Amino acid sequence: MKVIMLAAGVGSRLQHMTRFTPKCLVKVHGKPLLGQLIENYHKAGIKEIVLVTGFMRDQIAVDGAITYVNDDYLNNNILVSLMYAEPEFTDSLIVSYADILYDEQTIREILAAPGEIVVGYKKDWKESYKGRADKPTGDAEKVAVAGGMVRSIGKYVPDEESNGEFIGVIKFSKAAIQSLRDLYHEFAKHGLDQPFRNSPSLKKAYLTDLLQEYIDRGNGINGVAITGSWVEVDTLEDLKRAGGQITNYRVTPEQRRGMLNGIITEKGFVRAMEAHNGISGIIANTTVLRDKSCFDALWISSLTESAEKGQPDIEIMGFDSRLATVSEVMEVTNIPIIIDGDTGGDPNAFEYLVRKAEALGASAVIIEDKVYPKRNSLDAESKQDLADPKEFAAKIRRGKDVQLTSDFMIIARLESFIAGKGLQDAIVRAKVYLEAGVDGIMVHSKEKTPAEVFSFAKEYDKLFAQGIPRKPLVCVPTTYDVVTEEELRQSGFQVVIYANHMLRAAIKAMQDVGRFILEHHRAKEVAPYLAPVAEIFDLVGFSDIKTKEKMNGSGQR
Ligand code: SPV
Ligand code: MG
Repeated sequence: MKVIMLAAGVGSRLQHMTRFTPKCLVKVHGKPLLGQLIENYHKAGIKEIVLVTGFMRDQIAVDGAITYVNDDYLNNNILVSLMYAEPEFTDSLIVSYADILYDEQTIREILAAPGEIVVGYKKDWKESYKGRADKPTGDAEKVAVAGGMVRSIGKYVPDEESNGEFIGVIKFSKAAIQSLRDLYHEFAKHGLDQPFRNSPSLKKAYLTDLLQEYIDRGNGINGVAITGSWVEVDTLEDLKRAGGQITNYRVTPEQRRGMLNGIITEKGFVRAMEAHNGISGIIANTTVLRDKSCFDALWISSLTESAEKGQPDIEIMGFDSRLATVSEVMEVTNIPIIIDGDTGGDPNAFEYLVRKAEALGASAVIIEDKVYPKRNSLDAESKQDLADPKEFAAKIRRGKDVQLTSDFMIIARLESFIAGKGLQDAIVRAKVYLEAGVDGIMVHSKEKTPAEVFSFAKEYDKLFAQGIPRKPLVCVPTTYDVVTEEELRQSGFQVVIYANHMLRAAIKAMQDVGRFILEHHRAKEVAPYLAPVAEIFDLVGFSDIKTKEKMNGSGQR
């Protein structure tokens, strides 16, 4: 008996955790899932391990395992992934997902169950979906079992008809895995792009689709209700519940630097959220909706970073202080960083900023074409003096000349609208900066509507009709917050920056909570407005530290 572990997929629901790590190596209780599964198989007497890898496969190394590579993992699904290991279908075997964790007892229960094909399932599955905001029951692979036989299996089994959740582990006799293989080929010979059962194509089909076909042809599949422990790690919420770490992710400067450009190219649109310290970075990095949407990048704002230190946004925080914040945020995040570089200082200071920011792994710096020391652009009373465009272009050139990689981007920020100079001034400047080699243009406005930036976007496009390669267009809709991302995208913007929202949210919440406590002479009334202390432990990785210490028997008791 051998086990085939399917470990090719990307695991995109784990977001930042699996950006550079295969899902099967995500850690629960301090140890990678795959390692724990293999250990449990060894304990249950199964030593022959077969892996199907794909995403980040170079990181997966298991002593003595036979490995098959699913190199098309981005386009196919679990059924095709299994078929990569077809040469192994020469004996009885177990097939297992690798993004789950189960114990030796579960394996022994599967091994002991009679039948040509035995599917493991959990009976009390609906209980385990309670309070799981990120995973609706509709996403679960369910089974309907009657008299020990599986009648239906897969995501499409209605909740009310199901009496268990498929755990992703199946045992096959030699004859059964071979008939399943033949059944697969009966469909595959017509091409992998043909629709298959409930899946849009055979390529995208689940293993459960093929099992259902097998059942519908009158073949028997046994179900065994597992009593051993089993958890799946599909979402960040799952990982947390399973005892996993959600914050301790690592990324090198080299991996991070090119990411912004990569996302612009792949997705065409980047959503960046402001961060001004470690905790706001963690929150911006880990906020994920059920539909998997999350922020793509972080903006290290001069306004919020100065304010966080109790200082006005007037370019008095030195670059070393700004870069220290960048480092602080980087230590606890793994998405691209865009630095607000104010005016960039004088050309020598700007060279220094570019060298340091690039070395840290920042993806971009945006500098504004105002005279040093600038005033925040949203202040209606401040005098906003624009830099001479030629001098500003020379500064850009100095920056471009010192960077060592082609990944790092220098983006010029047009303040023409802020200074009341109008569209024509903005366009003339954009052209000069593009000629100086800038990698993108940000156009700023403090109007209540996006009319100004839309008018610019229209003219901006015309610049490229004249043969200049188009560079990404960036905007910061703080005052014109009515605009939607879709409208911005349609108008030609590729990056939207929510420039100050984390800090403004925190300030308002802190003011309210302070007032409530003063009013009520105690803290009970503010409880609904507070994150639990345990949430802080989770966010900053303290829960992970405790787990590791427990495992190693070290540290504080
Ligand atoms: C910042 O966030 O610091 C910015 C954008 O530069 S704005 O505050 O609108 O000038
Ligand atoms: Mg700023």
